Amino acid sequence: MADEIRTDYTEAEVTEAEVAVHWGEEDYYYPPMHFIAQANMTDETIYERFSEENFPECFKEYADLLDWDQYWHTTLDTSNPPFWKWFVGGKLNACYNCVDRHLPKYRNKAAFIFVPEPEDEPHLVLTYQELFVRVNEVAAMLQSLGLKAGDRVTIHMPMVLELPITMLACARLGVIHSVVFAGFSGKACAERAVDSGSKILITMDGYYRNGKMLDHKVKADEAVQVAAEMGSPIEKVLVWRRYPRQYQSKAPMVEGRDVFVDDLLKAHRGARVKPVSMPAEAPLFLMYTSGTTGKPKGHVHSTGGYLAYTAWTSKNIQDIHPEDVYWCMADIGWITGHSYIVYGPLAVAATSVIYEGVPTYPDAGRPWRIAEQLGVNIFHTSPTAIRMLRKADPEAPLRYNYEFKHMTTVGEPIEPDVWRWYFHVVGKERAVIVDTWWQTETGGFLCTTIPALHPMKPGSAGPALPGIYAAILDDEGNEIPPGAGKAGNIVIRNPWPSITQGIWGDPDRFINTYYAKYNKDPNSKDWRDWPYFAGDAATQAADGYFRILGRVDDVINVAGHRLGTKELESAVLTVEAVAEAAVVPRHDEVKGRVPDVYASLKPGYEPSEEIRQEIVRAIETIIGKIARPKNVYIVPDLPKTRSGKIMRRVLAAISNGHDVGDVTTLANPEVVEVIRQMVQGDE
Ligand code: WT7
Repeated sequence: MADEIRTDYTEAEVTEAEVAVHWGEEDYYYPPMHFIAQANMTDETIYERFSEENFPECFKEYADLLDWDQYWHTTLDTSNPPFWKWFVGGKLNACYNCVDRHLPKYRNKAAFIFVPEPEDEPHLVLTYQELFVRVNEVAAMLQSLGLKAGDRVTIHMPMVLELPITMLACARLGVIHSVVFAGFSGKACAERAVDSGSKILITMDGYYRNGKMLDHKVKADEAVQVAAEMGSPIEKVLVWRRYPRQYQSKAPMVEGRDVFVDDLLKAHRGARVKPVSMPAEAPLFLMYTSGTTGKPKGHVHSTGGYLAYTAWTSKNIQDIHPEDVYWCMADIGWITGHSYIVYGPLAVAATSVIYEGVPTYPDAGRPWRIAEQLGVNIFHTSPTAIRMLRKADPEAPLRYNYEFKHMTTVGEPIEPDVWRWYFHVVGKERAVIVDTWWQTETGGFLCTTIPALHPMKPGSAGPALPGIYAAILDDEGNEIPPGAGKAGNIVIRNPWPSITQGIWGDPDRFINTYYAKYNKDPNSKDWRDWPYFAGDAATQAADGYFRILGRVDDVINVAGHRLGTKELESAVLTVEAVAEAAVVPRHDEVKGRVPDVYASLKPGYEPSEEIRQEIVRAIETIIGKIARPKNVYIVPDLPKTRSGKIMRRVLAAISNGHDVGDVTTLANPEVVEVIRQMVQGDE
């Protein structure tokens, strides 16, 4: 089914944001000299080198950061738009590039430092040599289960060392991993496992969050059951133990189906597995994300282009040097964790921190204690985490003795005021900040300042990266020039190496979602005819900086996590009493946006607290706790057009205290006032 790009509630949001564009517009902050003096990227000619005349050959510089088993012959193959192929003819192994090749120089250097949530548990340090040993053993184990290049495996694991180890073991074999965020429910995990055709699920018994050991294996049992009901059984469940030999789950191990990884590994102690040489365009992993329909999209990321791009941006935008201590607080279960905890940083021989728990546990000083103890000097997080930490204890960073040279913000727009706290208090005015705009689909950063080359502007991501030709288009496809002060849709006019290779099993949906809007000639082989539609509204200032305003489709960005309104609505509709449902984003001081649910009931049902609770539970079990709605309003009817389309724009205006605009043309205008009073009272 084609994704419909809805623009009906965009306008209200865009108008609001257009006003915001003028906050602190000319407020530049300059990178400190001590940062510039040590930065990896200080070449001011970089944009010329990556100009359109040098495209696509300019990207050779990216590919040359990797070790190739066989060098590629064609930089970019555009013969089947918009399915671009990069570095064609090349062969490489991602695991080799992230682990093996660093051994001669960095064998004894920490690849990862694991920080468990309980503060009395010791940190675990994994050197590159130990990472190599463990990845080989796990690869041998996966191989002994019959897995081979091209097979898919679903991984549903928390933030522990065993997660990147498992991912890299897959990559070593050319097995395509699909990591599902641990906070997602068993059902959500099953849906993704089924879509990818995974027969093996890798999970963990439990993990710490907010001071409690969460039972995680129970979700695997649910996933197996749901997958079987969907007609695509999961045959084996591999269970890592959070503490080897001490099982942390109430869910019994099922004979013949469930196996402990530590038991299986006994047969593979000291095993070595040769990295499988994969074509550059072979899929490295799938990453599911929400879209306009109820079904999540499995984005396919390539081996060569993806790794080259994340390596280059880790080196030049994250400014990672092997001697740095880098900490990205994102979860590996999202694209940020794949690109900027696992693949990019390891490709450039980083030392990274992996933290198991929540940033405010046991108090909001935790991140700064970790930074002080481990000497973290590059820090990477989201506006939601920054807002949360500021709210909980705005002075906490001042009490700790750490020093960041570089900080990142990603995932949502950051308010200039929050940015300034990040700069002055967290960064102690010593760190440069990059605000990196990108998406699951894009594999790596697209718009950001280059930290030693550009001044920072609070609330703006920055210019497009070298070799990324970004523009703002209006709905008709006309370019809105920089400095016009008008919002439009941000597009990327060209292919780049880490762009998604498509949606697993659904090429039409891929074209419809990202290219149908602006492609005028579906037969054209010229990449210039295929602007990539990102689904975000943005403005571009006269200095070329982009300011991202938010999604223009049915996606709600909750605390930097992408949720599809249709997915939430389908979950609400599983409640017996519910006749119709609409989910809209409500502004939230900490999380940016949160979902509000509006539901009408079937005849014979009366609104009750019980039904409201049932709706919340349905969302939590079908999607996960991250999707928990802020409010559930049971209304007599949903506002609709005469053709029966639910007017989410009107509900979004009500949730956010905005004017609902002209509703006289609706089929049931009277219900709008009833709902408004219910939500806003009689103001
Ligand atoms: C959506 C993509 C990128 C990795 C994490 C999220 C929003 C992302 C920024 C930013 C403003 C941002 C966009 C985008 N977004 N980065 N720096 N400033 N908005 O990946 O889950 O695929 O979400 O996140 O709306 O489309 P994702």
